[in-house]
Amino acid sequence: MIVITGGSGFIGSTLANTLVDEEILIVDTFSNNFQHQLLNNSGNVRLINLSNCKEVLQFYKNNIKYFYHLGANSSTDQSNLSETVNLNIFWSQYFWDFCVNNEIPFVYASSAATYGDGSNGFSDTMTIDQLKNIKINGLYGWSKMYFDIFALNQASKKFAPPKWYGLKFFNVYGANEIHKGTQSSVIHPFLKQLIEYKKVYLFKSYVKNIQNGEQKRDFVSVNFCIEFIEKLLNLNSDNGIYNVGTGSPKTFIEFSKDIMNAAGIDGLIEYIDMPEKLKSHYQYFTKSENKKSSKIHKEMNKFHYKKDLNNILETLMKSYDDE
Ligand SMILES: NC(=O)c1ccc[n+]([C@@H]2O[C@H](COP(=O)([O-])OP(=O)(O)OC[C@H]3O[C@@H](n4cnc5c(N)ncnc54)[C@H](O)[C@@H]3O)[C@@H](O)[C@H]2O)c1
Repeated sequence: MIVITGGSGFIGSTLANTLVDEEILIVDTFSNNFQHQLLNNSGNVRLINLSNCKEVLQFYKNNIKYFYHLGANSSTDQSNLSETVNLNIFWSQYFWDFCVNNEIPFVYASSAATYGDGSNGFSDTMTIDQLKNIKINGLYGWSKMYFDIFALNQASKKFAPPKWYGLKFFNVYGANEIHKGTQSSVIHPFLKQLIEYKKVYLFKSYVKNIQNGEQKRDFVSVNFCIEFIEKLLNLNSDNGIYNVGTGSPKTFIEFSKDIMNAAGIDGLIEYIDMPEKLKSHYQYFTKSENKKSSKIHKEMNKFHYKKDLNNILETLMKSYDDE
């Protein structure tokens, strides 16, 4: 059996849909009904509400092959401290302890938001002291950093699952993220804008040396992320924290053009004001440093970026037709 927390969300549902031959237990808050539709209901999938999961996990503890902890409040502008601490920290610590006590390999989602504005770099080999020096804006990034430091601390005391991997996802995009609304990656809103207005709206830059649209992000396909995780596990990689990004960031202008090409819609780019609430933690540049995972990335060279983007856009357009 495979446990996937957050399995009705974007990355979790995509992962669940690829593990077709496995018995899967999804633990989620199911806070958004739309998310149920993302599941490939093959009969091998059981849904358990987070609030009832402790007993169920105890029952299955000897049959769990891997525990993927992807569940979190993933909103980068969340502001409810007690909810963030409960969902993103306490539950993560509970699942960590569960996997330690039952010797279950544990994979959890961290985030590139833990690199703050990037001025300390994007290396996944930082020590706890180096991590503590990073200035993080926003509760979300803070909660992810808190748990990374917890994991590293526990591991240093030999209180860790037999295999464990913390994944610092960069800007993940894919088909199953429409439910995230304004928190989805840019491909869904950009595609809608192209279809409706033949335009893509990009945020203006508020940093002196960066022109509008020249903000750069490490945009990474969810399918790339899932292949990365599979290879990470198959190669029996060393335990620890790993960046999950391409290492080849693109400007928003470049990425918009890729989307236009893949969608076959030629559009204009227009610059709009950035919402006030984003300004304090907006990342102008992200780039996954991939030295630690160079072996995995060598194999990832076979990943077909354009074909994958075409497939994602095709699925999105089909879902708009079904709406
Ligand atoms: N999508 C990205 O670009 C990105 C980037 C960096 C990190 N991440 C992280 O990856 C993970 C998956 O992200 P996503 O984009 O699929 O988000 P999502 O919001 O689509 O999915 C998260 C799911 O987890 C559920 N949930 C909330 N707290 C939970 C808990 N404590 N236990 C179980 N389920 C819980 C939510 O209801 C939701 O269904 C999250 O941890 C997120 O912080 C995502």
